[in-house]
Amino acid sequence: MSASNSTPESAGLARAILVGVDFGGPAPFDATLDELALLAESAGDVAVARIVARRKAPDPALFVGSGKADEIKALVQGHQAEAVLFDQALSPAQQRNLEQHLGVAVADRTMLILEIFAARAQSHEGKLQVELAQLQYLSTRLVRRWSHLERQRGGIGTRGGPGEAQIELDRRMIGERIKAVKQRLERVKRQRNTQRRSRERNRTFRISLVGYTNAGKSTLFNALVNAHSYAANQLFATLDTTTRQFHLEDANRSVSLSDTVGFIRDLPHKLVEAFEATLQEAADADLLLHVVDAASPVLAEQMAEVQRVLAEIGAAGVPQVLVFNKADLLEVTQRPRVASDTLEVDGGIRAPRVFASALTGEGLDDLRGVIAEAVAGTLADRLNAIDSSPHPASPGSSEDAPADPLRYGTQHSLA
Ligand code: GTP
Repeated sequence: MSASNSTPESAGLARAILVGVDFGGPAPFDATLDELALLAESAGDVAVARIVARRKAPDPALFVGSGKADEIKALVQGHQAEAVLFDQALSPAQQRNLEQHLGVAVADRTMLILEIFAARAQSHEGKLQVELAQLQYLSTRLVRRWSHLERQRGGIGTRGGPGEAQIELDRRMIGERIKAVKQRLERVKRQRNTQRRSRERNRTFRISLVGYTNAGKSTLFNALVNAHSYAANQLFATLDTTTRQFHLEDANRSVSLSDTVGFIRDLPHKLVEAFEATLQEAADADLLLHVVDAASPVLAEQMAEVQRVLAEIGAAGVPQVLVFNKADLLEVTQRPRVASDTLEVDGGIRAPRVFASALTGEGLDDLRGVIAEAVAGTLADRLNAIDSSPHPASPGSSEDAPADPLRYGTQHSLA
């Protein structure tokens, strides 16, 4: 944390205006823009103002209407902002027009996520994957913010605007670079396949942690294996897959546990594609521990998003255990009476659920027990047993019975 008298400038942060547009679609609209603010913070910006708009459809030229664009411009000037960040994806033309109209750098959600990934990638493979996604994003647009890429690759998105011939040249260079990065990733993928086959020969039981960003995967990973992987209240603190073996006493054998990249709403499709090799870990696992921030007011949306990405990467069929983490943050009336139960996750499939706190250690013994059942192949027995037993009472008395069935009951559906 910076000292209280430090300014955003002294901390090297760019002052940014956050913009969200509600199109009234089926997806819930986050009027608070809190997640965008956290993304901005993780990308090195500080939000100095937030503004939301309502529209039936995006304006093809400016995304928002011209009146709103003028309002944003006044905010930029009033707050001496250096960037405007949009919660939705902008087309290349909208981004360019907005930059011209507002006179400052404009970034969308996709670009922010890519920036965070670029800053966090550590392994050779992680760096290649992010570079590929960034290049693919860049190949269709000129952007102000990525001047570092501009310098490396020669003249993308300069402030004055490069000439058309230069742009063409840059596009060709980007195309060639994309090809080279893809080839290198292909080699990495082959290596991974070899490692996987050797693991298969060793018959290691593989567990992968998946979950929405900031749900507590790394903290749980550390709590389970006693390692010290990086956990921070930042989005996407972990990018590269970390795998450790640990001895599971309940099953009297070792299993491997992998911490993977967090998922987020509107995870750029190209990024999912670029991270295919990393995400493959999840698809190849024998068991997924789906970590959920039980204290999040939008946990249902976050879980649905994780299910969507799992389906996209071919991991929908891998058995899952739901870990409702951060149970220590729940109010007394919100806390479950039963430490574990089941919940329908997707397409009628039910998964065991364990309430836990990776921070305090609460519930971890139950979780180890459930993992041991999965290792022993008796997880289905647990589901059947819970199915046929009388349903445990919901926590709290009938007067304070919580309205949100997702958190408390025993046999609820996410659908
Ligand atoms: P990404 O790398 O973004 O995918 O995040 P992650 O899912 O790995 O989350 P991480 O373990 O980095 O934790 C995010 C924040 O939540 C950190 O500030 C943790 O200290 C906090 N946290 C994790 N588990 C718990 C918990 O059980 N209780 C509480 N109160 N906080 C927790």
